[in-house]
Amino acid sequence: MKWTVRKFRAAKGGEPMGLVTAYDYITARMAARAGVPLVLVGDSLATTALGFSTTLPATMDAMVHHAEAVRRGAPDALVVGDMPFLSYATVPDALKNAGRFMREAGCDAVKLEGGVPRAEAIRALVQEGIPVQAHIGLQPQSVKSTGYAVRGKTPEDIAALERDIDAVAAAGAFSVVLECVMPDVAAALTKRVDIPTIGVGSGSACDAQYLVLADLLGLGDGPAPKFAKQYASLADTAAEAIARYRADVAQRAFPDAGHTY
Ligand code: KIV
Repeated sequence: MKWTVRKFRAAKGGEPMGLVTAYDYITARMAARAGVPLVLVGDSLATTALGFSTTLPATMDAMVHHAEAVRRGAPDALVVGDMPFLSYATVPDALKNAGRFMREAGCDAVKLEGGVPRAEAIRALVQEGIPVQAHIGLQPQSVKSTGYAVRGKTPEDIAALERDIDAVAAAGAFSVVLECVMPDVAAALTKRVDIPTIGVGSGSACDAQYLVLADLLGLGDGPAPKFAKQYASLADTAAEAIARYRADVAQRAFPDAGHTY
């Protein structure tokens, strides 16, 4: 059955939901087969599938292209398009680019990074009927100015996170990502608002969790962040399969009679 924003919102406080990113038809099919309710076409596309060292090089054209494929692969999931760096710096930009995710890729919602400073853009998008997932705490698009610091370690920073979550909830976001927030703070923020919180490295008290699919499946070749649990080693399995194929070809063992007309 198709997941809607209303259904997702209503899942707050229930059994925590495991959510993933996906970047193309193949990875979206995997998520759909596992019954994942919400799939994020994350701007982590840049680091996982395109080989960049940060998410900053992700462009709107690339994100829309990949979101179209994810939509085809996961027709029943809530597909969320991640607004890339500088695509929502002004309200008109946010409307134009979010509109591309909805109209061209068939996304159900968009995600954008930022708390208080993004409330105006969130309100404008929601007013036009575009559901928004907010993203506070560590914000990878600001990594050049903030670094990858864990959030919520001081009373001042906890107060800033409270202002951020209050602002995005009041602006109409249907859910909010908490990235790298101290677990006790994430638990308090989850109780503070009536929209689902989605944790990334923020402990188990959130209403849902995100894992970047490349980390979950072991598709990358670098070390995953501390919070990312690897459930499979698909890159190793794939490289080993390709090596076996190459050896078979070298020995004329492939193609054999069973694979020839
Ligand atoms: O781009 C991404 O994958 C994300 C998640 C980590 C939330 O923003």
